[in-house]
Amino acid sequence: MRQVKPFYFDMTEADIAAYAEGSAKIMRSATLILGEQTTQFEKAFAEFIGVKHAISCNSGSTALEFLLRIKQVAGKAVLVPTNTNFATVAAIIRAGGEAVYLDMDKRTFAPSLAMIREAIARHRASSKKPVAGVMWVHIGGVVSPEFPQLVADCRQQGLFVLEDSAHAHGSKLADVMSGNLADGAAFSFFPTKVMTTCEGGMITTNSDEEDHLARSFRNQGKRGMNYGNLHHDFGNSARITEPGALLGLIQLKKLPQMLARRQACYTIIARALDKAGLSYVSTKHMDAASQYKLIVHVPEGRTTEDLKKRLNEAGVICGGGVYDLPCHKQPVFEGVCAGQAYPGAERWCPNHLCPPLTSGMSDDDAAYVAEMLVKHLS
Ligand SMILES: Cc1ncc(COP(=O)(O)O)c(C=O)c1O
Repeated sequence: MRQVKPFYFDMTEADIAAYAEGSAKIMRSATLILGEQTTQFEKAFAEFIGVKHAISCNSGSTALEFLLRIKQVAGKAVLVPTNTNFATVAAIIRAGGEAVYLDMDKRTFAPSLAMIREAIARHRASSKKPVAGVMWVHIGGVVSPEFPQLVADCRQQGLFVLEDSAHAHGSKLADVMSGNLADGAAFSFFPTKVMTTCEGGMITTNSDEEDHLARSFRNQGKRGMNYGNLHHDFGNSARITEPGALLGLIQLKKLPQMLARRQACYTIIARALDKAGLSYVSTKHMDAASQYKLIVHVPEGRTTEDLKKRLNEAGVICGGGVYDLPCHKQPVFEGVCAGQAYPGAERWCPNHLCPPLTSGMSDDDAAYVAEMLVKHLS
């Protein structure tokens, strides 16, 4: 029986050979961190996103935390969707901020501008803590059509907007890449993401000062790339490794090709869902989308568990949802925004599914996924 899996490490034999050759050079050079590969990877990533600076580090979680530390959120409130990965909320808390949850809209799986305005007003009425800004998440790689307006609205009030772009490598709205749409961004290169460095992350910014600080934060607070023992900032040992950066360069080179494959599969599946009248989160308003996840709404009266089981039996293995359990229901965050309700997240987090969508899928695989979705969801 055909089986279509939700994850694929896109590494051809030629890529493996390039990695072997590159890593042999690294070993011979004995420069294992902060060397040529790191410099080249950062330069190529900044060019791809269209930003002035890209600063690599050891994970997307670290990239988020450093961005928030640079924005000095300690003692201040930071708005964040409850529908996100643990890492987004944890980064705010680690940076000393107070997480204030936002609900989500079914159409984007992200908050709406109205939700942000309402949350700011509610927070200001009940707390003395100033609001510093918004930690936004482009869920599944989908950039909300409201995002540019939302950024303008926040900036007008003196609030920053940061992008958690962990899902959004290559997502583009109104000719601007995710990672360059607001006041700084964090990417993840975790193995399941659109591109990987095994573990790794990247900060993107157009600010020279923030670039300088981010480089210090990831290198134990040592400013100006010094290897001595003068520590200016409360940083950490959070550098990417040279072999990780080499893998990043190999993956980045083929990213346009991987994105094109994802898009082709998405188009095949989305067209079938449209024809069958099934509902999903659309990326049609975007110039390009990472297509990290296709978010399909579970029809009324059906259960996610049962549908996933049926699809599984048909060889269509669904990936994790984004997200099945929102952060306000996670045990570790008990007490954060206690007593608040988030009806959008409560309705849709448990009631969506993400069929396989990878650069390892053929058109035939996508057509099969589409056929099974229509068969079991209709
Ligand atoms: C939305 C989001 N933000 C942040 C992260 C954290 O990235 P990392 O695993 O590289 O620390 C992830 C994924 O793991 C994520 O999905």
